[in-house]
Amino acid sequence: MWSIAFLKLPFVASKGREEEEDQECTLIENETTATLMRVLPLWAKVTLLVSILLNISFFAAAFLRHSSTKRDPSQLLYSPAQDAVQYEIKKFHRGFGQDKTIYQGDPSPELDAEWKSLYDSMGIIRLTRSQAASLPNKTYPYIGDDGYYIGELAVFHQLHCLNAMRISLAQNHYRTVFDPSDFDPVEGSYGRDHISHCLDALREAIMCASDISVITWKWNNKAQRALGHGDIVHSCRNFEKIHDWSSDHRAAVEFEAGVYVEDELSDPSD
Ligand SMILES: *[C@@H]1O[C@H](CO)[C@@H](O)[C@H](O)[C@H]1NC(C)=O
Repeated sequence: MWSIAFLKLPFVASKGREEEEDQECTLIENETTATLMRVLPLWAKVTLLVSILLNISFFAAAFLRHSSTKRDPSQLLYSPAQDAVQYEIKKFHRGFGQDKTIYQGDPSPELDAEWKSLYDSMGIIRLTRSQAASLPNKTYPYIGDDGYYIGELAVFHQLHCLNAMRISLAQNHYRTVFDPSDFDPVEGSYGRDHISHCLDALREAIMCASDISVITWKWNNKAQRALGHGDIVHSCRNFEKIHDWSSDHRAAVEFEAGVYVEDELSDPSD
């Protein structure tokens, strides 16, 4: 588009030479670019060249701007999953009556499986050396998977923690399903100390994300009062995309936690 406009410019500008103009216009329509370059006065060639250069730099600048703003502005620190972030609008559920989710209800193997599928099997991922080198915190190398490093996206640790809290709330049932040592107050996955750690990890995560969607109120005839409603629309990160990304970067081998290696990308031991 721009080039057509600029090609026409010299002819529009040469007022008072109408005959010549007509001839030149016919030339443009019929002849090749080479002929055009021959008939153009020097100043027009210079204008054309400058306009081409300006256009190239404009598009280059627009492209660079686009690719640098692609990064999620809410992400101040590098994450290897930053390109998997997509935003979407999601309606939350009331969690009462008819509007419950598959993650609610009494303990059952089906319920346990739904919860596990949120974070299990893609929790631990392997990072390339350059991804590990870009992390704001250092991490440990995989032993036996040369050149890779161990990581986990925080959302999956948070989901694991929430599930542990859910299980500890239904201890009467799960004590009959799991090993009693899992409920040891100090060492157990569902014991006091781990649940306290999980509860506070979720407090930090919730405050870190600080969802600013507005919960609304509606008149309720039965209660004869206005009640708050959580089933409103929220601006969310697409969980499936993050889940898929993590799944695609799943660790190929179990990491060896019991072998010490010195590595330049790792912090010294505690
Ligand atoms: C991660 O980095 C922060 C800031 O440098 C530091 O305070 C923190 O101790 C690091 N965490 C670990 C586990 O190394």
